[in-house]
Amino acid sequence: MEPTKYIWFDGEMVPWADANVHVLSHALHYGTGVFEGIRAYETPEGTEVFRLTEHMTRLHHSAKAYNMKLEWSVAELVEAAKETLRVNGLESGYVRPITFLELGALGLNPSGAKVRTAIITWRWGAYLGEEGVRNGIRVRVSSWRRFPNTAFPNAKATGTYINSILAKMEAVEAGYDEAVMLNQDGVISEGSGENLFLVRNGVVYTPPIAVGCLDGLTRHAVMTLLAEEGYEIVEKVLDRSDLYYGDEVFFTGTAAEVTPVREIDDRLVGDGKPGPVTRLAQGLYADLVSGKLDKHRDWLEFI
Ligand SMILES: Cc1ncc(COP(=O)(O)O)c(C=O)c1O
Repeated sequence: MEPTKYIWFDGEMVPWADANVHVLSHALHYGTGVFEGIRAYETPEGTEVFRLTEHMTRLHHSAKAYNMKLEWSVAELVEAAKETLRVNGLESGYVRPITFLELGALGLNPSGAKVRTAIITWRWGAYLGEEGVRNGIRVRVSSWRRFPNTAFPNAKATGTYINSILAKMEAVEAGYDEAVMLNQDGVISEGSGENLFLVRNGVVYTPPIAVGCLDGLTRHAVMTLLAEEGYEIVEKVLDRSDLYYGDEVFFTGTAAEVTPVREIDDRLVGDGKPGPVTRLAQGLYADLVSGKLDKHRDWLEFI
């Protein structure tokens, strides 16, 4: 990652190299942080940050779930993210807000720990690789199950991502691009950092949020765009064999955008090439975020 000039840190623009925290920070020891992943895109009308307000709202929800007192409002965070992109001269890139517990407590009771918030921006290409976006990626079903409701699968907390990291590392070390995680009941949940879609006989399926996957904003955008094209979208509990029998499978996420899956557990998905619905979703999403669609303009927040 190429450093940018400034990081927004609790209201100040701090030079990249000086945005540091102490080794006794509570978040470092216990994973007590919440975060977001957001993308900014170049459009003919300037830079837009895709669904920025909704991402900052989700950050607030994650903080609330873990009882962290986030002192910045959604509106303040939205403006701070735009300002960070502006001062760094980024026309497009990734935006990473993080709220975490710093000094003031070092036991399991975090009360008294200072809550800090930072927003980092940087240039970022395709998360699962340009080749993956073009021709699809290879995935395996992970031996690691996604963590259950002993925490909040629907919040983005730093500590819980150690679970996704186990799955991602296992997949990559075994020569795959990404993992598919089952939940504790053995049904499909999602990728390590992406929601999953399956197409069979022209119908689009995705697991319901209740299985413990993240309520992804890209998932919602793609469901909306495909429904507008006349596709039936069904939120359905899927098992492993559903994946094998699907005509098309793809991932969605801020980082992954729309990425086709060409192989699962060494079995080809369909004929091993991205199918028509996947291509349609990719094209519509790319047009949407780059300002080429006339609809859903309220999802584009210009800096
Ligand atoms: C576990 C997980 N699932 C799905 C997603 C996709 O969510 P979104 O489309 O809101 O980026 C993410 C990314 O934040 C994630 O971390």
